[in-house]
Amino acid sequence: MSPQSRQWRGVIEEYGHRLDIPAGTPTITLGEGGTPIVSSAWLSEVTGGQVWLKVEGSNPTGSFKDRGMTVALSVAVGQGAEAVVCASTGNTSASMAAYAARAKIKPLVLVPQGKIAAGKLAQAIVHGAQVIMVRGNFDDCLAMSRELADKYPVALVNSVNPMRLQGQKTASFEIVDYLGDAPDVHVLPTGNAGNISAYWMGYEESLAAGESTKLPVMRGWQAAGAAPLVKGAPIPDPETIASAIRIGNPASWDLAMAAADHSGGKFRSVSDEQILSAQRQLANTEGVFVEPASAAGVAGLLLEAAEGARYDGEKIVVTVTGHGLKDIDTALSTFTEVVDTVVNTDVDEAARAAGLA
Ligand code: F0G
Repeated sequence: MSPQSRQWRGVIEEYGHRLDIPAGTPTITLGEGGTPIVSSAWLSEVTGGQVWLKVEGSNPTGSFKDRGMTVALSVAVGQGAEAVVCASTGNTSASMAAYAARAKIKPLVLVPQGKIAAGKLAQAIVHGAQVIMVRGNFDDCLAMSRELADKYPVALVNSVNPMRLQGQKTASFEIVDYLGDAPDVHVLPTGNAGNISAYWMGYEESLAAGESTKLPVMRGWQAAGAAPLVKGAPIPDPETIASAIRIGNPASWDLAMAAADHSGGKFRSVSDEQILSAQRQLANTEGVFVEPASAAGVAGLLLEAAEGARYDGEKIVVTVTGHGLKDIDTALSTFTEVVDTVVNTDVDEAARAAGLA
């Protein structure tokens, strides 16, 4: 890249000095990170605070997973790995497959059969992953992936691999950089609980480095049918339309609980109906189309505002984790009045159909 270029270089090049990774690690990147922070007049009005959306669907494969995957794949390659494995509800596998293609190593994904959004499955397939469908849920897939990595020459890149959280913590750095300090509250959807743990690590490191003066309250939102962190116990049969967070036994349970406890935050849940409603409102109010799981944090903010919570004078960042195009079947399922106007190639007819004439 030319020295005068101001193009974003990906999280390893931008933040390498703040990542705890082995010296001499090569860089496998797709230019991830540097995602938009978009102010939301709508959510600011509803909550009384100043609300921004951290739009992680703008990453190369359409979700926040790319931040962690660039680091995990780079370190795996540096350590000589020839194959990588992950369990996934879809986005991790899409991301891993893309970075493995770039690294020229073999991607192996284990996913719960019939529970992966079509767009995500397409990504894994097109990037050349070997996709193994498991008759079980995500938690079963993760247990199997761990065992495969224990017994066979394949590196595990789920968020139990600490390199993933190293990469994902950079989202906090970007937020602190943008706001000039940490926000007062950080809201995000929570499934396997790696992301909330990574954000918290990033905020703690920003404070220790003198980049910020405070730590945000961490608020994780789960789907009602898959809310082990709210219940305080694993859920054997998690169920939600938000397939990305259909997880009953989060791997980063302790880290996530520590983040909530130490920040004065907590976990709560929202129903599938609240998630879908938030997804649709966000799309047609703010122009931000996210997948269902990604709308859980927005749904949570709306729920608490309806319960009377106020955030006057506070800065709130809501991470929306993945792009809406990944799961168009679920997004369109909420539309009963489907627009289906067919006209001849006649401008006047089109104008009449549009109510212009
Ligand atoms: N949002 C989206 C879009 C996700 O894909 C995930 C997790 C989460 C939120 C929850 O993040 O697990 O760090 O608490 N997806 C994983 C996957 C499990 O396999 O793609 P978390």
